[in-house]
Amino acid sequence: MVGRWQGDGGVTGPGAADRAADWFAEGYGGQPEGVWHAPGRVNLIGEHTDYNEGFVLPFALGQGVRAAASRRDDGLLELRSRQVPASPVTVPLSKLAPGSVAGWAAYPAGAAWAILQAGYPVGGTSIAIDADLERGAALSSSAALECAAALALTELHALSVERPGLAALARRAENEFVGVPTGIMDQSASLLCRAGHALLLDCRSGQASNVPLDLEAAGLVLLVIDTRVQHALADGRYAARRRACEDAARVLGVPSLRDVTDTPGAVDQITDPLLRRRARHVVTENARVLETVRLLRADEAGRCGPLLTASHVSLRDDFEVSWPQADVAVEAAAAGGALGARMTGGGFGGSVIALAEAEQAAGVRVSTSGAFADRGWPPPRFLEAQPSAGASRLR
Ligand code: GLA
Repeated sequence: MVGRWQGDGGVTGPGAADRAADWFAEGYGGQPEGVWHAPGRVNLIGEHTDYNEGFVLPFALGQGVRAAASRRDDGLLELRSRQVPASPVTVPLSKLAPGSVAGWAAYPAGAAWAILQAGYPVGGTSIAIDADLERGAALSSSAALECAAALALTELHALSVERPGLAALARRAENEFVGVPTGIMDQSASLLCRAGHALLLDCRSGQASNVPLDLEAAGLVLLVIDTRVQHALADGRYAARRRACEDAARVLGVPSLRDVTDTPGAVDQITDPLLRRRARHVVTENARVLETVRLLRADEAGRCGPLLTASHVSLRDDFEVSWPQADVAVEAAAAGGALGARMTGGGFGGSVIALAEAEQAAGVRVSTSGAFADRGWPPPRFLEAQPSAGASRLR
């Protein structure tokens, strides 16, 4: 089924705003003043490059998080989630501090905290969250939650914050309030993407440009394959990769790995084999992003497959963030006729993306499902990704 997780009811589409508003009414009584949507993302290519001041090329999904919200005059932030109904949270805005809110609610509470920290006068707010984005699938459900809350809070309280600035605040929520040292990619994708386009983001300058990605016109399908292994970044392995990159840059005497570009063999000066591998991934991945952009702009999306697969091999062997189900999915997708495939997102679980000619998509599904069944793994889930619009107010 196009645009939906296979076998999943889903709530994407016109009914999504109503469902979020109904959930709000159930929790707080009455209709919300507004409903906002922030999408999850697929990263087409450019993995673990954002915190190295490099290039990323994500696009927004149709799926995401809705925040139905209203102001209140008692200075409280009240949060409830349709996906976690047993754990509503109420906290005075004045008491928000890193560590003060745990679990799912830390993401929207962190957004309120970051906006307050930046000096904007957020007032009391009731927020009801609803989502149709699989959590743990590495499709940025955390950033979508932060961005939906951040957009709702700023627009409800008439605070004028430009989108790139809002992305930075949502990232701050994740880095400082939740405590995960991620880069800027996911929040930027959620807030800045355009339908039918991927977002080329230069994470050093902050410059963003929309790159046409009309899969349908090119006769292509980008299949998201949820490997059903939960992805999480909070366990220290993501932070360890980040530190290794900083160490590698220090050894090379450059401010960041972004500065290592055109000289082949530049990373070979690093004697530590682990740091050398980490650096090689980042340097080669930046080059792959730019080459992908060149192909897309030349209307040659169908030739991006080998770049995706090369990215996966680099993430598997040099950066070591892949996982067995992803490696099997990438191989099975190729065997089923995909043009290329790679893990997407931070790694250690989550999803793989496979680019295929539309008529090969069924073969890719069959091949991947078969490979998982042969190993006794839970069946993978499939989504045909549609490059969609960034966050907006739904009503
Ligand atoms: C996660 C982080 C991003 C980025 C990716 C890896 O999604 O949130 O900032 O670092 O991992 O590319």
